[in-house]
Amino acid sequence: MAITLKINGKSETVDAAPGTPLLWVLRDHLQMTGTKFGCGVAQCGACTVHVDGEPTRACVTPHDALEGADITTIEGVSGDAADAIRKAWVANDVPQCGYCQSGQIMAAAALLRDNPAPDDAAIDKAMSGNLCRCATYMSIRRAIKEAASMV
Ligand code: FES
Ligand code: FES
Repeated sequence: MAITLKINGKSETVDAAPGTPLLWVLRDHLQMTGTKFGCGVAQCGACTVHVDGEPTRACVTPHDALEGADITTIEGVSGDAADAIRKAWVANDVPQCGYCQSGQIMAAAALLRDNPAPDDAAIDKAMSGNLCRCATYMSIRRAIKEAASMV
């Protein structure tokens, strides 16, 4: 059954099987491939989007539970915190293979929006659900601090 979702401020009508995770609606139905598939079981954070501002695992979130919600993906995340995160990510050469990075940026943008001056403990807590096989964790921490200084 077709339903309408609000994604990055735009209404998108999708016709996917009931219970289809948001991740596959984004990637396969809407060709929004910035949100990545890592584990599919809420363990890696590669698929992180914002639902009503909260970092959310798209791989385990049924799309049909999201009617009326504000969904933001890496393609649409905006605002002072997200802009600062993007700049700091580039300045610090954070990505290696890049696969986990859209999820990392979504988690970091939400952290900085809610806490403009996070300490190491706050950063580690907010980012602990986002895994990186390339071990960019120290660069991520440095970039978040640099971004905080810009907001
Ligand atoms: S793909 Fe969703 S948490 Fe890993
Ligand atoms: S940059 Fe390669 S998995 Fe994180």
